[in-house]
Amino acid sequence: MENYKITLLKGDGIGPEIVDQAVKVLNKAAEKFDFTVTYDEALLGGCAIDATGVPLPQETIDKCKASDSVILGAVGGPKWDNQPGNNRPEAGLLGIRGALGLFANLRPSVIFGPLKSASPIKDEIIGDDMDIMIVRELTGGIYFGQRGREEDAAWDTEKYSVAEVERIARVAFDLAMKRNKKLTSVDKANVLESSRLWRETVIRVSKDYPEVELNHMYVDNCAMQLVRNPKQFDVIVTSNIFGDILSDEASMIAGSIGMLASASLSGGKLGLYEPIHGSAPDIAGLGIANPLATILSVAMMLRYSLSQPEAAQAIETAVAKVLEQNRTPDIYEDGMNKVSCEQMGDLVCEAL
Ligand code: IPM
Ligand code: MG
Repeated sequence: MENYKITLLKGDGIGPEIVDQAVKVLNKAAEKFDFTVTYDEALLGGCAIDATGVPLPQETIDKCKASDSVILGAVGGPKWDNQPGNNRPEAGLLGIRGALGLFANLRPSVIFGPLKSASPIKDEIIGDDMDIMIVRELTGGIYFGQRGREEDAAWDTEKYSVAEVERIARVAFDLAMKRNKKLTSVDKANVLESSRLWRETVIRVSKDYPEVELNHMYVDNCAMQLVRNPKQFDVIVTSNIFGDILSDEASMIAGSIGMLASASLSGGKLGLYEPIHGSAPDIAGLGIANPLATILSVAMMLRYSLSQPEAAQAIETAVAKVLEQNRTPDIYEDGMNKVSCEQMGDLVCEAL
């Protein structure tokens, strides 16, 4: 029987409660699909600062590298707002992505039928099957570029190499080939030199994928098109900062930021799986957080890192089923059962 070693980075705020639910669901899936999982925990973010002084201890990197995959809750909170920039919880998150070489971040924005009315966008604009995959470059660009601070000025730099653009473009083209063969590359090539290099490189890579219909869009236009006509998109590939921003926007089209999963991939099997939302310190410990984004991240892990596509599909189906009647407060609608974080986890297990 296959055994997988998973490192849990529960993090801060609602992180621990949502990861606990995801683990429950993963254990249930293991039982049903005949594999086993062993867990190890490590510190990342604010909890790591409190325990060790730094947001990303070396021990955490070592444990993650020794595992088949990593599940992350969320990091950050007001308690650590006065930390210097390079010692904030967020620096730990960027650091672990860099240390594990997780250059490709997949952020699917999918609408679950029962949740359609939770979207702030009109029904006729979303349609019945909105399904966008944002591919965000995750270890380059302005979040990793040179930065500096003087008395009364500060700067961050956006720099991309051809190799960095090429490898993320290939991930996006490969995904497009498995989907509807449509790829939108998002940049700001009318202003930024780095975007012009991005666009040239994507065009060059596209020669290897003649079946994929490629178009280019400026990021400001893309932000507008996402709410005007989201159905025009299949796969979107973009830089670190643009992907960060556009994926939050796309999550809202799907109803709630509490619903969206993500996968961060290196070239190999090891991946890091996390909800795209933050640590929500205002509701931490109240038991009302929505664990579904983390549970759906586990489904992505089963699909992309652990080669268990049936288990992944089963979790996604279970989530859709549970949503017909049950909602955490963030997606609550009249006539539904209002459930807690823990109850939501239990319901998904039962449906599985
Ligand atoms: C995300 C988050 C992070 C990012 C922050 C917390 C560093 O916004 O995963 O989208 O910008 O990547
Ligand atoms: Mg973000």
